[in-house]
Amino acid sequence: MKQSLIAALTLTLGCALAAPALAEAEAGKPLALRGIMQDLGRHMQTTSLAIAREDWALVEKTAPLIAEHTQPPVLEKTRIMAFIGTGMGRFKGHDQKTHEAAKAMAQAAANKDGQAVIAAFKDIQIGCLGCHQEFRKPFVEHFYGAR
Ligand code: HEC
Repeated sequence: MKQSLIAALTLTLGCALAAPALAEAEAGKPLALRGIMQDLGRHMQTTSLAIAREDWALVEKTAPLIAEHTQPPVLEKTRIMAFIGTGMGRFKGHDQKTHEAAKAMAQAAANKDGQAVIAAFKDIQIGCLGCHQEFRKPFVEHFYGAR
């Protein structure tokens, strides 16, 4: 009897303590988008090294990973769309720019055209930068709290 009372008390207390902690963890939890971005960063690093080595086969293999990166889960997409609102057209525009440039880079690499690969690489970077300059700060403030 005494033991079950203690168990019940522990459970109640445990829940009371866990609930706010859980909400906090959810609020600060990294978006899937951040992981996707980190992958994009790695693929761009791989590409720049491959360019230095004139390893066009590796550029060609890596470019589609940039062009067709994975999407965040539906629920997260909904949160992102709700936050961005009317800016969604511009957000998607930056994304589209990087996709198209990455496709052009794959083609240039297939042609072993180093100059064209570098031109496309620059265009990709401009797409990344455009979105980051416009959206990253408000994004991080909104989803992770101001830091
Ligand atoms: C359509 C918008 C958009 C485009 C295009 C975009 N990014 Fe991002 N990126 C973001 C946002 C928003 C964040 C902040 C995400 C976060 O902190 O959760 C971010 C964050 C990052 C980060 C930091 C991740 C971290 O650990 O904090 C890296 C690296 C990154 N992006 C790389 C890239 C690269 C490389 C490209 C181009 C190939 C790119 N991004 C294109 C929106 C974009």
